[in-house]
Amino acid sequence: MTLRNTDDRWAWPSMTLHWLIAALILALLAVGMVMVELPRSPRYFWVYDLHKSLGLAVLALMLLRLGWRLYAGAPRPVPGTSAAQHLLAQGVHLAIYVLALAMPISGWLYDSASGLRAMKFFGAFTVPKLVAPDPALKDLAHAVHEWGAWVLIALIVLHAGGALIHHLVQRDRTLSRMLPASFENPR
Ligand code: HEM
Repeated sequence: MTLRNTDDRWAWPSMTLHWLIAALILALLAVGMVMVELPRSPRYFWVYDLHKSLGLAVLALMLLRLGWRLYAGAPRPVPGTSAAQHLLAQGVHLAIYVLALAMPISGWLYDSASGLRAMKFFGAFTVPKLVAPDPALKDLAHAVHEWGAWVLIALIVLHAGGALIHHLVQRDRTLSRMLPASFENPR
């Protein structure tokens, strides 16, 4: 079993990072949108702490993924993918990388610049504040976090839509090679 991606398919470290980060980001978008509607009471602090801890986990995993992507490379586009389709996919992937880093960083900056109470990473240790309380930076970070969520949702729709078009219309291996090999070679 190879750790690095081949020209032909993704290997398990990249697959694991892809699906784990995807699940965490979907959960964070849902929790984020629900929690801002909750009454601001200590009763719900745990929801905020969960959101922040999961978000910081995404930041750590994204940095790992970026390093792994540079080390392990990526498969070539499947035969039959047009140059325009490949270029669009690459643009969307790059934008998702930027947003998946910008979301946790803006959330952490918002938390820090607001002077909110200290938070613990999954209850284990106190997360340091990035900056001292700063109302202007707080507003900027909040705007990036709020609008970034909508841009990220649009990108996820494009990305997942593209994968489904490959799978259902072009009937190629673009989606299945991001799944365990047993999906491609059922016994
Ligand atoms: C990939 C990572 C993240 C995603 C996708 C995400 C997503 C979201 C979403 C969708 C909202 C609701 C925005 C709104 O409608 O106003 C939100 C709110 C919030 N997020 Fe995140 N978030 C992430 C990481 C973080 C991190 C790391 C922190 C802090 C350490 C954080 C702190 C907050 C806070 C404090 C709010 C509430 C803002 C308010 O009170 O209006 N987020 N997040």
